[in-house]
Amino acid sequence: MPFNPPLRDWSGKTVWLVGASSGIGAACASLLYEQGATVFVSARNSAALARWADARVAPDAQGRARAVALPLDVGDAEALHRAARVIAARGPLDLVVYCAGHYLAIDAQDYRLEEMLKHQQVNYVGALQLLEAALPLLRRQGHGHLSLVSSVAGYRGLPRSLAYGPTKAALINLAEALYLDLRPLGLGVSVVNPGFVQTPLTAQNDFHMPALITPEQAAREMLAGWARGAFELHFPRRFTRWLKLLRLLPYRLYFPLVRKFTGL
Ligand SMILES: NC(=O)c1ccc[n+]([C@@H]2O[C@H](COP(=O)([O-])OP(=O)(O)OC[C@H]3O[C@@H](n4cnc5c(N)ncnc54)[C@H](OP(=O)(O)O)[C@@H]3O)[C@@H](O)[C@H]2O)c1
Repeated sequence: MPFNPPLRDWSGKTVWLVGASSGIGAACASLLYEQGATVFVSARNSAALARWADARVAPDAQGRARAVALPLDVGDAEALHRAARVIAARGPLDLVVYCAGHYLAIDAQDYRLEEMLKHQQVNYVGALQLLEAALPLLRRQGHGHLSLVSSVAGYRGLPRSLAYGPTKAALINLAEALYLDLRPLGLGVSVVNPGFVQTPLTAQNDFHMPALITPEQAAREMLAGWARGAFELHFPRRFTRWLKLLRLLPYRLYFPLVRKFTGL
């Protein structure tokens, strides 16, 4: 029995991807569009979104654009509400994905409250603001799926993940609570926990990223996970299954193993 109603046939479906001007979000947008969905893309970089939408001109059954740019900052609650109204005017919304993210590798030696709060605003508070805009719509429909892109960095504390990790842990917990609340109402909820993906976000990493995958591979994994009706979509498994194992260990084993593997 799957956790969620499987999402398979994208033809005629509508998706809103928030954080889709580059990386994983942009790759998902392209793949969903190729599979026939109408895709609304949001992020701050309006030029990148417009370029993406302008390059995709196939209409839907009613002759309307299937690739639509809705630029916004996730810190702007009113802009999220406006975008949700535009999407609702088109018809039912089948999938909302929160993949906006901010990441800077910092540790306690480099503690800066401003950076800590920026991570919290983009990675977590932005998701809360999206929920405020999208949840009434999904609840009214009585169907639809909400997917939050978190990270394996949210499983447990990691070196140089002081600002990023806690926001991703919060997203995982949020998704679990949402699942319990919303599944009985007929809605689907999932959390996406990727390992390392080669995107602008990870370009700053000066360390070896094990099992690094492309955004296109990540997008394929995500569509496969939604098609299975999974709750947690984690990939690539050759990497994430080790992290899931580490997650289960007591602290007296976890801390030395993390030091050994990261050398930090
Ligand atoms: N790459 C990895 O290895 C990896 C691993 C695990 C999880 N993730 C997560 O995957 C998600 C996508 O990241 P990515 O790797 O694809 O990096 P990315 O290419 O940098 O994508 C981040 C997206 O978030 C958007 N964004 C950032 N701040 C925003 C704001 N204030 N308002 C609206 N949009 C905003 C960016 O667009 P604008 O700059 O145009 O606003 C961009 O579209 C993030 O949540 C990230 O934490 C990534």
